[in-house]
Amino acid sequence: MAGFSGDAETAQRLYRLVRAASLKETHEEELKLKNVAGKWVHVAVAPISSLGHTVWRITDTSPRRPVLASVDAAKQSVVVQLRPLEQPLLAGADVRMPKFIQDAPVGVALTGEDGVISEWNAAFASLIGSEAKKLKDRPVFDLLRDQTAQETRARLTSLKPGEVSRAPVDVRFKPGNERTAQLFASRLHNENGGPAYAIYLIDTTGQTALETQFAQSQKMQAVGQLAGGIAHDFNNLLTVINGYAELLLQRHQPGDPSFADLNDIRNTGLRAASLVRQLLAFSRRQTLEPEAVNLTDLVADWSVTLRRLIGDRVKLKVEHGRDLWPVFADPTQVGNALMNLSVNARDAMPNGGTLAIRSANVTIGETMSFGQVLMPSGDYVTLEVEDTGLGIAKEHLGKIFEPFFTTKEKGHGTGLGLASVYGIVKQTGGYIFPESEVGKGTTFRIYLPRHIPAAAPVVVEPEKTSAARDLTGVGTILLVEDEDAVRDFAVRALTMRGYKVLDACGGEEALELVAEHDGPIDLLISDVVMPGMEGPELVKEMRKRMPELRVIFISGYAEESFRNAPDRPEDCLFLPKPFSLKQLTSKVKEVLGEV
Ligand SMILES: Nc1ncnc2c1ncn2[C@@H]1O[C@H](COP(=O)(O)OP(=O)(O)OP(=O)(O)O)[C@@H](O)[C@H]1O
Ligand SMILES: [Mg+2]
Repeated sequence: MAGFSGDAETAQRLYRLVRAASLKETHEEELKLKNVAGKWVHVAVAPISSLGHTVWRITDTSPRRPVLASVDAAKQSVVVQLRPLEQPLLAGADVRMPKFIQDAPVGVALTGEDGVISEWNAAFASLIGSEAKKLKDRPVFDLLRDQTAQETRARLTSLKPGEVSRAPVDVRFKPGNERTAQLFASRLHNENGGPAYAIYLIDTTGQTALETQFAQSQKMQAVGQLAGGIAHDFNNLLTVINGYAELLLQRHQPGDPSFADLNDIRNTGLRAASLVRQLLAFSRRQTLEPEAVNLTDLVADWSVTLRRLIGDRVKLKVEHGRDLWPVFADPTQVGNALMNLSVNARDAMPNGGTLAIRSANVTIGETMSFGQVLMPSGDYVTLEVEDTGLGIAKEHLGKIFEPFFTTKEKGHGTGLGLASVYGIVKQTGGYIFPESEVGKGTTFRIYLPRHIPAAAPVVVEPEKTSAARDLTGVGTILLVEDEDAVRDFAVRALTMRGYKVLDACGGEEALELVAEHDGPIDLLISDVVMPGMEGPELVKEMRKRMPELRVIFISGYAEESFRNAPDRPEDCLFLPKPFSLKQLTSKVKEVLGEV
């Protein structure tokens, strides 16, 4: 049994302390006590609780070695029973640290020469997480992942007595604890066998998440830009390939020996165009036609198609939230997203299962963080697509939205499905989060912001005339396009339909043509981006002389990218590339037919 003893005056002061503690006025006193070895030592004493027994926090100031002790206040004895260090009075042993270290926002732990932890504070325990209960007597290296454990060990052994490490070690904890921290250490003076090192941990989880999110969004942006650029160029090429294939098909009817080949060319071209559309969707440069949409109706409209798509083995369960708020979205694109998610779900359930589609209103009170993505507070409508399939491996989860990421065999997936879903959701101002467990299934949750319609008078749109069968017409069209092949195709397509076509490969040339041409020009069809004078500027110039001039812009980029451009002329129609023969001629008919 070990203990302290003191003189009569010390005894008096201890009684006062006990009484103060029972009145909950905790404070600390410096006392001179005789320790077990009969040596006088200076200690700081503070009673911690006073439930009959008083627990004392005694900090031995001569070798700095905090110890715990208790005294029976009723006995009025000065002898303080010292508890052996191995038996901490309170779980966690952290009470032995001064209060300001216990409460410190950084993790602090003391370890022996071998890195074995003897004490720690609350912040340290919370960083360590579920392992915190088993901290006592474990080497600190046990808590760290291999690489960072080695670095930490090297850092500790390199410290001289009294030295504080300057640069931190960026540490990761054992799998299961995904937090990150910076570790600093200092080597203590330990002549009396006390702790050898103090370890400090600064939580960097939030910062790391932000950095990762930033890097990820930059990557997605860069890939999006690249994809958009490729899609733009391919749109030009495909307009030509598909256009000529159609022209040829009109000359070579089904009995013709070339018909089958030409048909193949056209069908392959159409498939290529659909791939390019997905790329454009991903890069958020798609032309969207948003309107107020009720997701209940939308899902109901699509469920017949979806049911057919997923086959007999997979059960479709649709659950709608009540009184769903409207969202402002392009219904066709949201439908496409739903279809892509359902096809993926089907593929993940080769032996059957259940596909559940749910919708609901949710209000997010505070900015929420989903993994690395922050979603601002507000009203949202969620669309949830859940399957009971194979699930997605953890290491893949961060990559599934990247274009061309696929785990499917060659020829079975291009990896553009989720990329286009992502683009559609983002372009609509929403969020998408996957959640998956291997072997159990996957849930994709889409949040679309609630749409609050502006109180505007209802405009009754004139009913669209059903696609005119007769696409021939008359009139003079000025066609300006810098891609020779696209221009040649359009000229031929329009001439075939009876129009008179003047063509130019740029703005300046177009203006010269107009100056030489006598007679009216009924329509200008122009590319938007061209070397030299661009489309919008050309329109402005021409409208100086012909204020009523009708205009159709054609472009490989989405209308959006230029809808809000400051120099966009008014009253212009837009035709995205690649356009088919029919799309071009119906658009022209739509404009000139009104005259
Ligand atoms: N519901 C799901 N369950 C399991 N894995 C999924 C699920 N959805 C997506 N994945 C994984 O994400 C990958 C990417 O999906 P994505 O739809 O982008 O491409 P894909 O389906 O492989 O090809 P594509 O859709 O272009 O035909 C898939 O290959 C698959 O590994
Ligand atoms: Mg897919």
